[in-house]
Amino acid sequence: MSQAAPAGPADFNPLAPEFIADPYEILQRAQRESPVFFAEPFGFWAITRYEDIDKALGDFETFSNNSLADVPVPEQFQDRVPPGFFGTGSLISQDPPRHTERRKLINKAFVRSRMEALEAPIRQICHDLIDEFIADGKADLMTQYCYQVSLRSIVHLMDMPTDDLPMLRQLVDDQGAVVSDAISPMSEEERNMRWERMAKAREYLSSIVDARRAAPGEDIVSQMATVNGEDGELVFSNDEILTHLTELLFAGTDTTANLMGQMVIAFDKDPAQLEAVKADPSLWAPACEEGIRFRTPTHGIFRIVTKDVTLSDVTIPAGSLVWLGVSGANRDEARYGCPNHFDVQRTDAGEHLGFGKGRHKCLGAPLTRAEAPIGMAVLYERIPGLRVVAGQELDYERTLVAVLLKHLQVEWGA
Ligand code: HEM
Repeated sequence: MSQAAPAGPADFNPLAPEFIADPYEILQRAQRESPVFFAEPFGFWAITRYEDIDKALGDFETFSNNSLADVPVPEQFQDRVPPGFFGTGSLISQDPPRHTERRKLINKAFVRSRMEALEAPIRQICHDLIDEFIADGKADLMTQYCYQVSLRSIVHLMDMPTDDLPMLRQLVDDQGAVVSDAISPMSEEERNMRWERMAKAREYLSSIVDARRAAPGEDIVSQMATVNGEDGELVFSNDEILTHLTELLFAGTDTTANLMGQMVIAFDKDPAQLEAVKADPSLWAPACEEGIRFRTPTHGIFRIVTKDVTLSDVTIPAGSLVWLGVSGANRDEARYGCPNHFDVQRTDAGEHLGFGKGRHKCLGAPLTRAEAPIGMAVLYERIPGLRVVAGQELDYERTLVAVLLKHLQVEWGA
């Protein structure tokens, strides 16, 4: 490195529980004092300002996704799980032209008409879940509602049997654990157990792909299983479809669930905001955008820098791993007035970077935008007096990428 790399805030530790629970004071301090710095213990450069992250996300040639997050497959599973199943197989780790071609095809499942058709089933999913716990006067909102709404909505898009829900939920958890293995290592026994379950889930899903090729429906699995390229050959192999299905489940379950959970917390702290939405339900959609801005479900996005690049007067050398701190960027004082105020009537909340930007902008954003307003509206229609149980400790998973709240105890009634 030709210049000394700025060290950044001494208390920057994105795996510390205090940071995960509330990263904003540290990130806003970094934005003011040391907006681009080298986080030595983690081996990555952190970029914190909205303006710089916005630029980085728009420049895919300098800020590449290629080869990110490759997860080595343990030897004993290599005949069941292909190499690069996550790193090079998923959309998030690809660069153009392959990424452009694949994304265009998968995106057909997320067009407006498909999302509109999902609204009634999603509403039904929400009601069914609430029916199961409303008489109890209390619930763990994350496990009994938020994670269930998001998982069931994607599973509906895939037209998978509801009997498979526990297995698919487990697949999301196992994928998260094997991806985080490098930073938060598992025991040998746990690693083997998780890989065994993932391999089995892939084998089962592969049999579903075969069945859809033989008798296609309207769902996203059939769509990927039957699409032909210009050469008349199938575009996606079974292995590729399995990787994309797992990616959709992984990327779309915990994110939308945590958006809803965090909005409940924000409403509980500022009931006037909830009253404003109850008085005007057309505010549910903008309120969800503000929810993403205010407590972004994704802490940061990783990229590899392909050539030396200068942001906020700091030069990052070619080959560096960078962490684009989108959640802090959405609270950047230089971008948003009163950034720490949750305001459902904020007119520019939708310009947040919570879904990323550019070529890799969240493919599932239309699904979240369909699902979260319904999930929130139905929750408060059915349980208007819902409140967060006071004094509970909020426990988050330790991850560098997503905000994952494990439980949220809520109650209602007398
Ligand atoms: C509040 C909810 C969500 C948030 C905050 C979120 C966040 C993000 C972000 C920040 C990215 C960009 C990552 C990057 O540039 O490296 C992304 C990409 C992606 N998201 Fe989401 N996401 C959400 C919901 C969903 C849902 C519901 C799905 C699918 C059902 C989904 C599927 C994807 C996929 C497949 C990509 C990769 C796209 C590509 O590389 O072209 N996400 N998401």
